Amino acid sequence: MGYDSNIKSQKSEQRQRIVIVVSLVALSAAFLVMVSLLSPPGLVRSNGVVNNRHVDAVTSSLGKMAASVIVAKNEKNKLLRGEEEKKKTKKKSDASAISTSDEPPTAALSDTSKLEEIATLRSNLEAQVRSIKATGIIMETDKTALGYTKKLQEVTRQLISLRYGQIPSNQNYRVEMELEFQKTIPDYSESTKYATLLVELAPISIIPCSVYNFLEIARTWKHGAFHRNAGHVLQAIARSNITQSMPFQEYDESYPHKKGTMGYAGRPSGPEFYISIQDNTDAHGPGSQQKYNPYEADSLFGTVIRGMEDGTVDRIHTMPGREFINDKEKWVLIRRMRILVPKSSDNDEEEEPDEDGYVEFSKSPLVIPKD
Ligand SMILES: *[C@@H]1O[C@H](CO)[C@@H](O)[C@H](O)[C@H]1NC(C)=O
Repeated sequence: MGYDSNIKSQKSEQRQRIVIVVSLVALSAAFLVMVSLLSPPGLVRSNGVVNNRHVDAVTSSLGKMAASVIVAKNEKNKLLRGEEEKKKTKKKSDASAISTSDEPPTAALSDTSKLEEIATLRSNLEAQVRSIKATGIIMETDKTALGYTKKLQEVTRQLISLRYGQIPSNQNYRVEMELEFQKTIPDYSESTKYATLLVELAPISIIPCSVYNFLEIARTWKHGAFHRNAGHVLQAIARSNITQSMPFQEYDESYPHKKGTMGYAGRPSGPEFYISIQDNTDAHGPGSQQKYNPYEADSLFGTVIRGMEDGTVDRIHTMPGREFINDKEKWVLIRRMRILVPKSSDNDEEEEPDEDGYVEFSKSPLVIPKD
């Protein structure tokens, strides 16, 4: 082979490579367009194109290329929105010229804005799930419904990790409840006025939405009390920033309603919750509580890991009265909730972990009931 023909073959190899690269880029672009066209239209409607793209960025494995295209588009959208905001602000009042959207568009996403973004994405998905559930469809078997609930679960896992910190997959978040027994409890004079229940929340790999809901209830707790004393459950009123019930009946058969587990009351479930004081696997499991859907169960979120053995739960069960108790003096009050997370090695906080290696993440204000 001569020098010339060598160059020729090198050139044609180069050309072939270019052709391959160009077609790969074209194919990825076509794939991106298809994905954006195929994604559920409701998301676009409720949240604008930006977050729809984010759903894909977050939950698909399109890879870095897709992500960078999306980021570029978001920046463009941000700029556009910024311009609109500016115009609006100008219209409203020329004096207040400073718009909040004047941040440099190239600024990297901070943890806070990432959290806000995922939180917004999540609440839009949650609204979608609610509206699908409202149609009366069987959520557990309908393909579209399942698509949305799975996406909601995935984004909820991310939000939990962002808000409460990533924890090892073999550990779970915990919540400690501070209780106050009132004078009406039969053993008031012989026993303590205060007690605690320690709840280990379920693995978020299985039931993230129920866990998320309870973490939010605990973080924004205002007041509440056990006010229902039934043969199978002790049920509590829950006043927090979470006023809505669960968006759907999240349930996994690997986490049934065993004795000591905690679930959400009613249909749709929550925010009132209960402790199962007997095995309610059948009574609250799939097909229970209603007739039309054989798959639907009460959602549950955790298990009492301290309070069952030491008699605290039994003591709540001695509230004077059966079923729903009207007299507030007879309730067992929940004065505060504390969220506990495993202490991480890279965490330089000084707090000594408890015997299981957990430290406090946050605690709600102490509620001192009026006399
Ligand atoms: C609960 O909601 C109120 C009113 O929206 C808000 O001011 C407060 O900061 C929220 N509490 C928490 C802990 O997020």
